[in-house]
Amino acid sequence: MKVLVIGGGGREHALCWGLSQSNRVENIYCAPGNAGISDIAECIDIKAEDIDSLIDFARYEWIDLTVVGPEAPLSLGIADAFEREGLKIFGPSKAAAQIEGSKVFSKNFMRRYGIPTAEYKTFTSYLHAEEYIRLKGAPIVIKADGLAAGKGVIVAKRVEEALDALRLIMKDRIFGNAGDRVVVEQCLEGEEASFMAMTDGKTVLPLATSQDHKRVFDGDEGPNTGGMGAYSPAPVITDALEMEVIQRIMLPAIKGFSKEGIPYKGILYAGLMVVNNRPYVLEFNCRFGDPEAQPVIARLKTGLFDLIEACVEGRLNDIDIRWKPEASLCVVLASRGYPGSYEKGKRIDGLEAVNEMQDVFVFHSGTSFNNDDMVTSGGRVLGVTALGRDISEAKQRAYAAIKKIHFDGMHYRRDIGDKAIKGQQQ
Ligand code: AMP
Ligand code: GLY
Repeated sequence: MKVLVIGGGGREHALCWGLSQSNRVENIYCAPGNAGISDIAECIDIKAEDIDSLIDFARYEWIDLTVVGPEAPLSLGIADAFEREGLKIFGPSKAAAQIEGSKVFSKNFMRRYGIPTAEYKTFTSYLHAEEYIRLKGAPIVIKADGLAAGKGVIVAKRVEEALDALRLIMKDRIFGNAGDRVVVEQCLEGEEASFMAMTDGKTVLPLATSQDHKRVFDGDEGPNTGGMGAYSPAPVITDALEMEVIQRIMLPAIKGFSKEGIPYKGILYAGLMVVNNRPYVLEFNCRFGDPEAQPVIARLKTGLFDLIEACVEGRLNDIDIRWKPEASLCVVLASRGYPGSYEKGKRIDGLEAVNEMQDVFVFHSGTSFNNDDMVTSGGRVLGVTALGRDISEAKQRAYAAIKKIHFDGMHYRRDIGDKAIKGQQQ
């Protein structure tokens, strides 16, 4: 089989690695990929959003299955376009991807199907939104409607801060059209967790739970990022809570899509806030989380290719998914300046030493080659992922590996996993 993976971050490296474990997979291509991915896949110089060129490539190379990593091509309708050409693709349709692409669609969808989420109102008028914010008071959350590279959500502690955010989004239009509409919602306090499920539109197959770390600094301080590290499983999601998430969130969402005639094949990811042991959806995503995909795929025992193939062919019902008993933990190494503007082109040393370590995987997010040197080329550079008997051991291994890696300006959180470790000791 020939497989094409679309995207070029840590999630896509983990996907390529997972697919490479299958002896049914002969060739893996990745568009555009990165320096680390080029070890296990042939990287193709086509952008993830260039759907026409990707279709040409898939037809020319007789690709059997295409796996989409990021949200942007899904929101542009890549799955619909491939299927029109008779090409097999893993990822939801354009209509389904609105669950991530539009916060207004997503919140109204949750309301239609009784999915627990924060109370909210949507606005197209600045003045009405301002009035509502003053009425509700702080803390309050302002969300730009469209995709804003993870920066369109402001959790405001004071009314003034909320109004500043509203002004930037709706008047100064810092996110362009993504700010045509806003969602203003109640601020929830609790512990966050990521819940990903694979679905073929009929069956919902929950994946191992995980927890992301969105803030850039230890102790959840500083600005939001794409994610600075993750571990799996997430003890905050107990077995009882997992049942509740499936019954009250995942199944109603998939039934809702089906009722609306919208096909959903791929990953449905719910970003949850657990408040007093009850799950609320903060957001839905239409793809694997990054970095969450890295520790989750590292724990997968069932073949990733078989799983994805069954999903695309509508046979998920036949799959009995199996996980390694070990826990896993991923720490993201970022460039100086990230999540603001960051430096590039710094030489990365020490990866050979880590390659020799057992049960440690370094998934690359932003790396490229400068002649023979591997150099940084993104804000998030590497995801150092380790397995261990429990989260504590996985943490120890991941940080031991990080000690061997160096690039100028490298920064990372020291406390990935601590919440889970503390929870387990209680
Ligand atoms: P989202 O992209 O909607 O997940 O929001 C990004 C981040 O903002 C989340 O991971 C939370 O940390 C925070 N957030 C979003 N919505 C809320 C809310 N209603 N209450 C508290 N925090 C929130
Ligand atoms: N790590 C959060 C996300 O992928 O959206």
